[in-house]
Amino acid sequence: MSTLSTAAVPGWPEPLPVPASMRAVVFRRFGPPEVLEEAVLDTPRPGPGEVLVQVAAVGIGRLLDLSARAGRHPYAHFQLPHVLGADHAGVVAALGEGVDSVRVGDRVAVFPVVTCGDCTHCSEGREEACAGLSLVGTHRPGAYAEFCAVPARNVHQVPDGIPPAMAASLALVGPVAANQLAQAGLRPGHWVLVQGAASALGSTTAALARYLGAKTIATSRSTEKRKALAAAGADVVLDATAPDFLDQVREATGGHGVDIAVDNLGDPSVWDTTLDALARGGTVVTSGAFLGGKVRIDLLRLYSNCHRIIGVRTGNAAAVKALWTQAEHGFRAVVDRTFPIAHAADAHRYLEDDNNVGRVALTLRPRDWEV
Ligand SMILES: NC(=O)c1ccc[n+]([C@@H]2O[C@H](COP(=O)([O-])OP(=O)(O)OC[C@H]3O[C@@H](n4cnc5c(N)ncnc54)[C@H](OP(=O)(O)O)[C@@H]3O)[C@@H](O)[C@H]2O)c1
Ligand SMILES: [Zn+2]
Repeated sequence: MSTLSTAAVPGWPEPLPVPASMRAVVFRRFGPPEVLEEAVLDTPRPGPGEVLVQVAAVGIGRLLDLSARAGRHPYAHFQLPHVLGADHAGVVAALGEGVDSVRVGDRVAVFPVVTCGDCTHCSEGREEACAGLSLVGTHRPGAYAEFCAVPARNVHQVPDGIPPAMAASLALVGPVAANQLAQAGLRPGHWVLVQGAASALGSTTAALARYLGAKTIATSRSTEKRKALAAAGADVVLDATAPDFLDQVREATGGHGVDIAVDNLGDPSVWDTTLDALARGGTVVTSGAFLGGKVRIDLLRLYSNCHRIIGVRTGNAAAVKALWTQAEHGFRAVVDRTFPIAHAADAHRYLEDDNNVGRVALTLRPRDWEV
């Protein structure tokens, strides 16, 4: 990994002197994408143990951005106006007291899950189960802004050759994917089914499974997206809503079924196919349920086939470390496209219309604020 502190790498900004106020995109009421508007806010000051990141790119997620803005977030409460923006990348602009892990000018990616660091779960390396867990851009101001203050332990140096949008796209879904596959016990040669594999998280989990030596079945309802998933390297691409889906899974896997099935959708009919596709001894892993999540489970089938169903709330420190080691060795997330921050509402509409294959990110160079 580079120890260069300079931001003079293509796509990364030079650190600016920190101004008293900054531009941000906020929402003052819940509603459609048009509620996103530009505002001038006080620049946050990094507290003890925090760093101030000059944001270069920020990812947009289905739950943390679209559902939150629409007022449909299932568990978070927002103080309005609110600044969204969880997984992001940028250069370190200032250090809070006691921070010596990074320097001003370092290129960093921010894992947006903040945990207490000393409960039993945190001490055992299962930070994702921390009762004090909070999220940048949900429970604290996020990165749809020129600057964002985050705990130093949430920033990770970005290896050479990774532009800001890719770094932002790896920053959250990368560790979640790594944690999902680790907890599901992935081994080279396993068959892995990823439902909704065109999604930001699904595309990353599928890519990481392949990178780690598994064979993947990627699903999408859309013919165009299935073509893109095949081009991105999926071994088999299927439509989970097709009547012969299960036959196709059996044919692809030589009658075995899949060793691991990833379903972050929570749609009852997709879920039925997830369980149907599972091999004896197989594992279902889920880290999302934006389509409802109330699904059926046949316990007789579950125990008699030695199936496991695992909930993985999100990434953790070990998964962040593993992900960036893999990124250093060449692993990349799938970036669909970027929008300038001035077009944040268009980006939300684009995602809401299910157009993406991979992560959509906002870029925040000075010219990206001009409409
Ligand atoms: N726990 C975490 O830390 C974490 C982090 C990131 C994401 N997530 C979760 O992962 C899930 C995906 O989020 P994302 O931001 O990656 O999503 P995204 O990029 O917006 O993609 C959403 C996907 O949902 C599929 N979809 C939409 N409506 C559907 C329906 N009615 N039936 C079947 N599939 C449908 C689409 O598949 P088609 O290709 O068929 O259109 C699309 O690929 C969410 O549940 C989110 O909460 C969790
Ligand atoms: Zn904790």
